[in-house]
Amino acid sequence: MDDVAESGLSRSAGEVEDHRITAELVQNWVVWRDAGNWERFRTIWHPDGRMMATWTQGGRDEFIWSARSPPPSRSCKAATANPGLPSAAPCLGRLAAPAGLALGGDAVRNFDESNITEAVLEKVRQAKGSRVRQVSGSLVRHLHAIVREIEPTQAEWGQAIEFLTRTGQTCTDTRQEFILLSDTLGVSMLVDAINHRLPGNATETTVLGPFYVQAAPEHGLGDDISKGMVGEPLLVEGTVSHTDGSPIAGATVDTWHTDGDGFYDVQGPVDLQGLAGRARFRTDAAGRFWFRSIVPASYPIPDDGPVGDMLKLQGRHPYRPAHVHFMIGHFGCETLVTHLFLAGDQYLDSDVVFGVKDSLIHSLEEQSAGETARGNWVDRPTKALRFDFVLAREQSANLAEAPAVAG
Ligand code: BEZ
Ligand code: FE
Repeated sequence: MDDVAESGLSRSAGEVEDHRITAELVQNWVVWRDAGNWERFRTIWHPDGRMMATWTQGGRDEFIWSARSPPPSRSCKAATANPGLPSAAPCLGRLAAPAGLALGGDAVRNFDESNITEAVLEKVRQAKGSRVRQVSGSLVRHLHAIVREIEPTQAEWGQAIEFLTRTGQTCTDTRQEFILLSDTLGVSMLVDAINHRLPGNATETTVLGPFYVQAAPEHGLGDDISKGMVGEPLLVEGTVSHTDGSPIAGATVDTWHTDGDGFYDVQGPVDLQGLAGRARFRTDAAGRFWFRSIVPASYPIPDDGPVGDMLKLQGRHPYRPAHVHFMIGHFGCETLVTHLFLAGDQYLDSDVVFGVKDSLIHSLEEQSAGETARGNWVDRPTKALRFDFVLAREQSANLAEAPAVAG
């Protein structure tokens, strides 16, 4: 002893029966954490001015001790003086509730940097949906942690708000600045990775990007989809199959790419009277597709808005290496969103959206006029890009196919 006395607290077993007040009933409380089990031991400011500590166990708050008035500051030693409490429970920050705080019911007041985070977390813990509770709690914890780490001035915080405001204002029907922000901060690739933990031989995924158009024109196999775009002729030949090698007939193959100057049809300076460098095909009975177009070029993502300003401040260039986009779908399969990158591009190692994977980098081959090795036909010499795509089975389909467990 006596740390409890030293801290101005007293055990008061007699109050156990009278004051089994849980955090759900009292808004102003401070969490004490121990390394293994945070929230196990919390301190509650009761409306009548007493401080009470409870230990959450088995879903119930066990009363531990109470004191009439809060100490001006404390060292957490009280915890060690109470049987059953984790020894040396670390105290995160000072307990800052001023004497006379005494708020009950739904009152929410008198916050400072030591208790504001827990107060907000307590509020969002009351959300009905468990996913909302989880996401909101995580958002508050991480957002507050950023602010504690960088300690912005009011002016800096104002700039941050203004940046997000401009990001929203830059969005139009054809421009999505928030996706660009997510892309350039690597978040799109992280979400993609988390959602595509695919079997080994399935084709790897990468970002969708903002230039996908849902209503791309349907084309027949072998069509030229360049429609007047500038650039060197390109032949694309591919197949689509399952991970066991069986071909997928009737798969939809959406493709889109820039022209030889790095412009997509939807952003180029020339009016092409409609969409170009994009199309939707269907694989034939052997899972094959092919089309003609032009060789795309590396290009800068739209950098005349807030995301471009951010890149400049961060000392980064806005370029993506040359690539052809694909979105390939078939019933019972995970839709594949990916690109084929052209080998040798100067930006392969510094893609501004972090989208490059080794397995997606391919060399252009030289194809002379006449019949190709895959049985197609071109009337002039052309570059050729050949790739065989492998789709993973949809996760639910995998489960349905799982062998029944004996027993
Ligand atoms: C694209 O490849 O089209 C793209 C991807 C992410 C951001 C900007 C463009
Ligand atoms: Fe692209």
